[in-house]
Amino acid sequence: MTLNFLPYSRQFIDQADIDAVTAVLRSDWLTQGPDILAFEQEIAEYVGARFAVAVSSGTAALHLCYLAVGLGEGDEILTTPNTFVATSNAALYCGAQPRFVDIDLETGLINCALVEAMITPKTKALVPVDFAGCPSDLAPLYALAKKHGLVVIEDASHALGAKYRDSIVGDGTYADMTVFSFHPVKPITTGEGGVITTNDPALYEKLLRLRTHGITKTEMSQNPGPWYYEMTDLGFNYRMTDFQAALGRTQLAKLDGFVASRHETALRYDEAFKNLSNVRPLRVPDGCVSGHHLYVVRIDFDAIGQTRAEVMATLKEKGMGSQVHYIPVYHQPYYQSVLAEMPVCPVMEQYYRGALSIPLCSFMSGADVQRVIDAMCVYG
Ligand SMILES: Cc1ncc(COP(=O)(O)O)c(C=O)c1O
Repeated sequence: MTLNFLPYSRQFIDQADIDAVTAVLRSDWLTQGPDILAFEQEIAEYVGARFAVAVSSGTAALHLCYLAVGLGEGDEILTTPNTFVATSNAALYCGAQPRFVDIDLETGLINCALVEAMITPKTKALVPVDFAGCPSDLAPLYALAKKHGLVVIEDASHALGAKYRDSIVGDGTYADMTVFSFHPVKPITTGEGGVITTNDPALYEKLLRLRTHGITKTEMSQNPGPWYYEMTDLGFNYRMTDFQAALGRTQLAKLDGFVASRHETALRYDEAFKNLSNVRPLRVPDGCVSGHHLYVVRIDFDAIGQTRAEVMATLKEKGMGSQVHYIPVYHQPYYQSVLAEMPVCPVMEQYYRGALSIPLCSFMSGADVQRVIDAMCVYG
């Protein structure tokens, strides 16, 4: 293995990030201080939403969205199996059932044409996932949701900085709430963290309350003094700390640079792989600007005569990481035991047989990009 190991993805941290975190550590506010509000305002402004609520993780963000729309026992969400387990786990936390809609092979995104037939009286929310940084086809999904009285909770954990048609992901044009994750391999990081954006003042107030134990200090039945508060919902402690928010702010200032750099690398890969028959990149649909969180190729392992594990081992030998996004969620042993019915998703199965994410980080050197291209072109 070479010394300069290229992971499939990783964070980019500079001195400005370190200085911002250090300044908060030296201040009076480690949590519930001014950086949280500033970060929320900057995120809202960046995506063009009215409100943003910063929380402790993308998973917490999903959980709060589901709670905010009253998802509970007997309800269902429709989502994609090509996601991290958190998208549907958070519905299980509420006692609801996730149902999985098959995907489109070329994009890895939910197949919108299949959604309407799966809506039942129990369906409460559509939860598209902007896989690999590429927005789902949000306009028809949103129209469908409104036709059936459903909410759209967009899991854009991968897609901060992405665009769909004339809208920035998170601006609320095609979703009631949008969730972003700031886990280290995501478009920007706060270590752990997440945010929800929305344009709905009632949802915003509810999310704020649920993030802090369901406690309010504004809408109370009485107000006997400054010490008083009321708990009106069963909420959680899903707060983000101020040093995380400070990191989020300096990261956000670099987001456009991150996306531009990833875009450039993705274009080089696209160009290098365009004539390969055993290695096919995912397609970014017209009208979408992907945040390029991941670069996924579909490999014909039968044609190359090697297993995925063998290819991953060879890439590791050549000094680069790779990963699979994703194992179909319903394959997980826990899901096998809790799902009311097993999904039928033949395209997801086909996609899963070939999927491999190859290195895509912000600010890869030209030599690193070429190293990956050379390693993949071997497979023809
Ligand atoms: C699509 C998707 N949704 C939700 C999450 C959960 O985010 P977090 O790790 O911040 O809880 C992730 C994280 O990997 C994700 O990839």
